[in-house]
Amino acid sequence: MPSRSKQKKKSEATGQAMILSPKRLFVTLIITAAALLAFKGTAPAGRIPPPDEYGMVVIRNYSQKAGFAPVVFDHWLHRAMYTCRLCHVDVGFAMEAGATKIKAENNSKGFYCGSCHNGSRTHNKKVIFAACPGTAGQEDRTRCDRCHSLGREVKRDYEFASFIKDLPRQTLGNGVDWEEAEEKGLIKPVDYLEGVSIKRSSLAAQKDFSIESKSTWMTDVIFSHKKHAVWNGCEVCHPEIFPSVRKGTVKYTMFEIYAGEYCGVCHDKVAFPLLDCQRCHTKPVR
Ligand code: HEC
Ligand code: HEC
Ligand code: HEC
Ligand code: HEC
Ligand code: HEC
Ligand code: HEC
Repeated sequence: MPSRSKQKKKSEATGQAMILSPKRLFVTLIITAAALLAFKGTAPAGRIPPPDEYGMVVIRNYSQKAGFAPVVFDHWLHRAMYTCRLCHVDVGFAMEAGATKIKAENNSKGFYCGSCHNGSRTHNKKVIFAACPGTAGQEDRTRCDRCHSLGREVKRDYEFASFIKDLPRQTLGNGVDWEEAEEKGLIKPVDYLEGVSIKRSSLAAQKDFSIESKSTWMTDVIFSHKKHAVWNGCEVCHPEIFPSVRKGTVKYTMFEIYAGEYCGVCHDKVAFPLLDCQRCHTKPVR
């Protein structure tokens, strides 16, 4: 493999091996500590969520006032069935908890959750249970409870532990290697929803590239357009998260990423967390 031997030569030449030098280890620890402090400031509970709660979104703009429990939405279940693009572009959910301002009425008219949860659409030949009805009666409270479930004992159809049992593992986030699960065909996220999505021509593949780290002790980042496009298409990132499509035009730092911008829009919330430094900083130190 030519690239690997090149990498080796490079690290030999600079005298820096792939192992952490004491200095690098120290700086890494400082940054990690700073990052943890930053998490404390932003994460509502000030803690790293357990695997089954990683990517869980609580939606609570209107339900409590109407006498219902807030709604719990799990990414681990939905991302195994659909691409990010399908929900965040075609269906139109914001990438921020609570920002879509979903009303029961929208759902009952077939928007948002109701684009799938309408009582007639199927997934794997199974009918998807309906979301909120037009008028909120006492009718079928157990169905309401499946979504309006925060703080309630609700019997689930999908339990996290058994759901991920046969999926490849990773240490952080959901504890699942979603990348590998998708590559091996263990999950097949659907990217098209009849009546909601518009048929598109397949998109031009983009080159993968490396992003230079501004520090000498932290390794460069390799960004794979190909892998990201599998989940996100192009429209999730361009133009909203990365407005410029000319590489290097927008400057950002690790601190902005920690603050939930750029890569941090997804990483730390749904995609694997920022504590997993090496999964992004994969190139050897210059
Ligand atoms: C079935 C639909 C669906 C799929 C698939 C989906 N999402 Fe989401 N996502 C949502 C909803 C709903 C919300 C909450 C929106 C709201 O509350 O207004 C959300 C919120 C988010 C947030 C904000 C979370 C927070 O805590 O603020 C991020 C980031 C996100 N999604 C990323 C992703 C990524 C990355 C993928 C693919 C791996 C993905 N989503 C797949 C529906 C989906
Ligand atoms: C793109 C389609 C799609 C969208 C949009 C969607 N879901 Fe789902 N959801 C599904 C499918 C498919 C299932 C599995 C249904 C089944 O097998 O019974 C499911 C299951 C669920 C479950 C059941 C979990 C369990 O273990 O019983 C909950 C809760 C849920 N969705 C909440 C939501 C909420 C809340 C929204 C909107 C914020 C939403 N979903 C939007 C497709 C979708
Ligand atoms: C597939 C998920 C899902 C199911 C099932 C569901 N809802 Fe909802 N519902 C939502 C979401 C998401 C919201 C927005 C929550 C918020 O912002 O507080 C919501 C909000 C509401 C609201 C708030 C008031 C308003 O005008 O928006 C009412 C009332 C409501 N739902 C009634 C019901 C009833 C009654 C049932 C059962 C027959 C039900 N819902 C089942 C997802 C669901
Ligand atoms: C996960 C986010 C993400 C997705 C998804 C994504 N891109 Fe990008 N794209 C980037 C980033 C980051 C850059 C670099 C931008 C910068 O440095 O300002 C970039 C740069 C580009 C560039 C400029 C490349 C260069 O060498 O100057 C083009 C063209 C581009 N993207 C097109 C696409 C297309 C087409 C798709 C879908 C197949 C896509 N992107 C999907 C994040 C993404
Ligand atoms: C729109 C959401 C989104 C944004 C923005 C985003 N990612 Fe990702 N990324 C994902 C998802 C989803 C995966 C699949 C793995 C997972 O969910 O844990 C992934 C996987 C990866 C991987 C592992 C795949 C591989 O190449 O081997 C790396 C590395 C990565 N992202 C780096 C980045 C970097 C660097 C940026 C910013 C330039 C970025 N990501 C921005 C959603 C995103
Ligand atoms: C999701 C991918 C991702 C993860 C995970 C990640 N980084 Fe970064 N990091 C980046 C990107 C992209 C840049 C490049 C920003 C630039 O300099 O243009 C960067 C830049 C840096 C820099 C250079 C200085 C700066 O602020 O830009 C340092 C230092 C750094 N990261 C440290 C860390 C540490 C420590 C961790 C683990 C706690 C970590 N990173 C995890 C993507 C990531």
